[in-house]
Amino acid sequence: MNDWRVPGFTSTGSKRPESLFGTPARMVRASGCRVWDEDGREYVDYVMALGAVALGYGHPEVNRAAEAAIAAGVVGPLPPVAEEELAEALGEQIPWLEQVRFLKTGAEAVAAAVRLARVATGRDEVLGCGYHGWLDWCQGATEGVPAAVRGLFGELPFNDVAGSREMIRARAPRLAAVVVEPVIVSEPTREWLQLLRAETERAGAILIFDEIKTAFRLAIGGAVARYDLKPAPDLVVLGKALANGFPLAVVGGRADLMAGASRTWISSTLATEAVALAAARATLTVFARDGVCDHLHRVGTRLLHGLHEVQRSHASVVTAVAGIAEMCFLHYATEELSRAAAQRAAQRGLLFKRTAYNFVSLAHDEGTVDRTLDMLHESLRGI
Ligand SMILES: Cc1ncc(COP(=O)(O)O)c(C=O)c1O
Repeated sequence: MNDWRVPGFTSTGSKRPESLFGTPARMVRASGCRVWDEDGREYVDYVMALGAVALGYGHPEVNRAAEAAIAAGVVGPLPPVAEEELAEALGEQIPWLEQVRFLKTGAEAVAAAVRLARVATGRDEVLGCGYHGWLDWCQGATEGVPAAVRGLFGELPFNDVAGSREMIRARAPRLAAVVVEPVIVSEPTREWLQLLRAETERAGAILIFDEIKTAFRLAIGGAVARYDLKPAPDLVVLGKALANGFPLAVVGGRADLMAGASRTWISSTLATEAVALAAARATLTVFARDGVCDHLHRVGTRLLHGLHEVQRSHASVVTAVAGIAEMCFLHYATEELSRAAAQRAAQRGLLFKRTAYNFVSLAHDEGTVDRTLDMLHESLRGI
């Protein structure tokens, strides 16, 4: 492995062979919910590019939009018209995005939201809940991150009303922002969401929803839409499924907070290259027109029910079903069993992640889900 020029095969921690299936370790092609490896073997996939694809790989409408953007030159000396058009289309679907800025990765967009919160409040400390990317501001104990930076960040407990209240109040005078992933394995309680809204307002801190996995999945507008959170968070971050696999992320929200962008420095040379903007515009059109989130919920619910049966039938190997219809996984009795189950499923042509999360897409239909459940039963039998 040390001879490879990309150590561990991949720049993404969660795509390393040891995190996934062992074999197949790499792929050459993907289409819909199917993937082909170097030997031409076909797999049904639930990794879905770690949730970056919700319409299916290589969706024809998205591809056509991307191809037109390539033909039109991709980048140029001036801001593209497509940037404002996409911002307007997003605002129509997600009204709490009064203004937006585009970036390339989720990590950048959450970091931008935190920067804007620091600009608005003049404060430094941040509480986070969930995964927000690899950049310095949100690392609790990562080597290479200065202690002074780590000291500004604390972890808020998910769905813990009393614990969250206490942490926010204790830091109130120094707290710039509370950043949360609204779904972490389980759904948030209404009480916790309302507490976050009320306590950040009370503390004068900015509430940021990191909807990188949940927007364009639970609803186009993510958890805020699904759980009808009012008033909406001050800032929201979108990414992943937003452009169906093309690299694009969004930070957006209250116009007065977004105006802070002109007082700080948030800038990226290729942030508005036209291919990802066009892909996102086409993705949004398909989502709104074809009721994609309803499909994800329906098919995901079928999968989730089936996983409960899988768990009951193989209770000594599978200890629990985790997650929600749109993003789920199984808990295994041991790490060895989890590895063995993932490998045996892959040998049968199924790429089913053994940790958070498996994602259904528009390309997964009921028949695919039923065959998936059969394959899972077969893989677990005799483990
Ligand atoms: C909730 C959340 N925030 C931020 C990120 C970071 O996004 P990226 O890997 O595009 O930088 C991720 C990626 O998994 C995520 O799931």
